[in-house]
Amino acid sequence: MVIKIELSSERLCLRPLSDIDTQALFAVFSDPRVMRYGSTPEWDSLAKAEDKVLRNRRGVQSGESMCLAIFHRHDYRFLGTVDLFQIDVQCRRAELGYTLAFEAWGQGYMAEALTTLLDHVFAELAFNRIEADIDPRNAASIACLERLGFQREGLLRQRWIIGDEVSDSAIYGLLREDWIAR
Ligand SMILES: CC(C)(COP(=O)(O)OP(=O)(O)OC[C@H]1O[C@@H](n2cnc3c(N)ncnc32)[C@H](O)[C@@H]1OP(=O)(O)O)[C@@H](O)C(=O)NCCC(=O)NCCS
Repeated sequence: MVIKIELSSERLCLRPLSDIDTQALFAVFSDPRVMRYGSTPEWDSLAKAEDKVLRNRRGVQSGESMCLAIFHRHDYRFLGTVDLFQIDVQCRRAELGYTLAFEAWGQGYMAEALTTLLDHVFAELAFNRIEADIDPRNAASIACLERLGFQREGLLRQRWIIGDEVSDSAIYGLLREDWIAR
């Protein structure tokens, strides 16, 4: 499944990540406050951003993943990203990831971006299930998911080792039927 979409909402527009986003992407992912509970340490070189753009292009081509860059409609500033990955066409499911620039926290931007994305993936792309793997200490992310109706489905112990730090995974899931009923 090749997913190449552009979406917009009241304050935001979302479009596929591209080469021109490399610098802005690096600025967000090199911030230790943003990467505190991420699946990698904060990025230490622009090459990591270039690599993500390249991997995203391959993921879109193979239908396995897709990253959308989030911009403010007003001034077109880069606010962050949303990712669908581990896309399983047969099971109509994907894993969800998302990141906002630190300066953009606390203003409802991710809730707005994810609402727009989830409307699209359930209504237009006919996904049945979206899941997220979250560090259970990541309170902001958990609040964001729960506000959208995701349910906590389990805890996988010591699933990650980032640098020297071992951490658990809280698994969250949202079904198409949950989204329609909400
Ligand atoms: C997870 C993350 C995206 C959450 O960001 P956030 O800004 O808290 O999330 P939202 O966009 O849902 O905003 C909700 C907050 O904005 C506030 N808000 C302000 N204006 C709002 C509006 N118009 N609409 C909705 N919420 C609004 C809400 O009250 C809420 O604040 P609160 O949590 O203090 O009550 C952010 O912390 C982040 O990027 N973290 C690093 C990356 C990460 O951990 N990603 C998850 C792992 S995949």
